[in-house]
Parts: sequence; structure tokens; C-alpha cells
Amino acid sequence: MEKSDFRETILTNRGLFEYLEDLEIPEADFNNPNALILDLGAGIQQRLAKEAGALHLKSKIISVDPRLGLREEEDLALPSTERDMRMAGRKSPAPRSLAATAEALPFRDETFERIYALYSVPYYLSHPEEIEATIREVLRVLRPEGVFRAYPILEEQVDLIRGILGKRTDIAFDIKEKEEDFLLVLTKR
Ligand SMILES: C[S@@+](CC[C@H](N)C(=O)[O-])C[C@H]1O[C@@H](n2cnc3c(N)ncnc32)[C@H](O)[C@@H]1O
Repeated sequence: MEKSDFRETILTNRGLFEYLEDLEIPEADFNNPNALILDLGAGIQQRLAKEAGALHLKSKIISVDPRLGLREEEDLALPSTERDMRMAGRKSPAPRSLAATAEALPFRDETFERIYALYSVPYYLSHPEEIEATIREVLRVLRPEGVFRAYPILEEQVDLIRGILGKRTDIAFDIKEKEEDFLLVLTKR
């Protein structure tokens, strides 16, 4: 199996407002001093964490993106506009940013109150095995009562994801249509 390649994803830089709207996040989620949030596939400038920091919101955000682990030459081998954005991103990463893929998260079990994935995973994963490994890792690092939100889920991914999640007795989940795609909201019991 040829793995999905994160280097081929379109680089975007959505901020707090887009996360709130696209993932339908209650604003209070960002203002809980005891809450640790994982932004999974945080993008080139980890804008969610930077904006939440600038607004002095109380929740701590950890930004994870595999691109953060690339050597400079490889990271910057991009078309010119994306290259400029990426150079700016390299110069000033958000605090608490690290390189990892969703299929192998470098965190202890039950670390996060919230996990958000916006236009990252499973959106960019083509193989069922990768989607399954990602869901396994997300559920491992999510705390009891923790919530995972992912958007978009593609129509062709919905049955697979329902099948994987339907086997778990320790979660409740909803996959609802949103614009052309689907939004997943999952709570761990
Ligand atoms: C389109 S960008 C979205 C970035 C940000 N969430 C946003 O909405 O602007 C997709 C990001 O997902 C990351 N990504 C792709 N595959 C991934 C994987 N397997 N695990 C974690 N992140 C991944 C890419 O490196 C890229 O930065």
C-alpha cells in the first residue's frame, strides 16, 4: 500500500473563527484552564493556537503537523505563494507545536479534553488502514468525557468510519451532513 502523503496536501491557514464555525465548537471549549486541546493537522502556521494565545483564551492548545518535521529544503520545495507562507511559519512556530502523524501520536493515553481536525484527517487519508489507525490513536489519547471533532468527512469515508466507530462501546458519535460533506462529533464515555 502506498501511504497517503501529507506533502501533497494543500497548505491552508485557518484561524479560530473557521475552527469554531466549521467544527461547530462551543466557544467555552477554548476558555477552560484545565483543558488541553489537540489541533491535529494544525497547518503551516498553527494559526488556531496563535490566535487563541493572542486572545488570552485559557485552554492550552498543542499543535501537531507532520510538516513540522521536514528538513528546510524539503519543506520549502513548494510553489511560490505557499513557499512564502511556509517560510513565515518556520520562523515563528506556535509554542507547543510538534511533528507527528495522526496514525502515531506521541502522547500518553487519555491526555486531551478536546481533539480537533479541520481539513486534515481523515480528510486527506486514502486508505482504510490509515483511517482506522488514526481513529485508534485519537481514542487512545482522548480523555473520558473528551470530544473529537473532524470536518470534512468525505461521503465515501462515512460508511467506513461508521463501521469502525460502531464497534466501540466506549463512545457516542454523530456524523451529520454539513454543506457538501459531513461533520463527525464523538464523545468518549
Ligand atoms: C489543508 S491543511 C489544514 C491545516 C489547518 N487545520 C487549517 O484548517 O488551515 C492540512 C494539514 O493536514 C496535515 N496532514 C496531512 N496528513 C496528515 C496526517 N496523516 N496526520 C496529521 N496531519 C496531517 C498536513 O501536513 C497539512 O498541514
